Amino acid sequence: MKKYILSIAFLGFAFQGFSQSVDKGKVVYGKLCVACHQATGLGIPGAFPPLAKSDYLNKDVNRAIKGVVKGLTGPITVNGAKFNGAMPPAALTDQEIADAFTYVYSSWGNNKTKVTPAMVKAQRK
Ligand code: HEC
Repeated sequence: MKKYILSIAFLGFAFQGFSQSVDKGKVVYGKLCVACHQATGLGIPGAFPPLAKSDYLNKDVNRAIKGVVKGLTGPITVNGAKFNGAMPPAALTDQEIADAFTYVYSSWGNNKTKVTPAMVKAQRK
């Protein structure tokens, strides 16, 4: 019984941590990413790719993180549309990037991946 209560408490905390990350990530997104990818996550056709239901984003979380950490240039295809632009490296902390991605992945029909600061750090190498 004690174990049961403890695990419920743990899940509660884990969930609280998740929703805090989403809230903070929304703020980070609103300060930086929104300028190009828009508040709707739909981007701007021909210029900025969508994050909403993006196959590129949902297929490979580490590749997506790397693009934001190191910047991304050169041709890519997102949801069947070609882009050949340049995303500058984000001048943000690991925590801010993790929160922004957790927000993005929890929004607009994406696959709800939780991104941690350690995952971001691993892409800085
Ligand atoms: C100055 C404009 C700009 C800003 C700010 C920006 N991006 Fe991007 N982003 C781009 C462009 C342009 C591309 C496509 C680059 C290419 O064509 O190679 C891109 C590509 C991406 C991709 C991969 C393609 C896709 O649509 O799934 C992801 C994921 C992404 N950005 C996330 C973010 C996040 C998260 C932030 C904020 C931390 C951010 N971007 C900030 C312009 C921007």
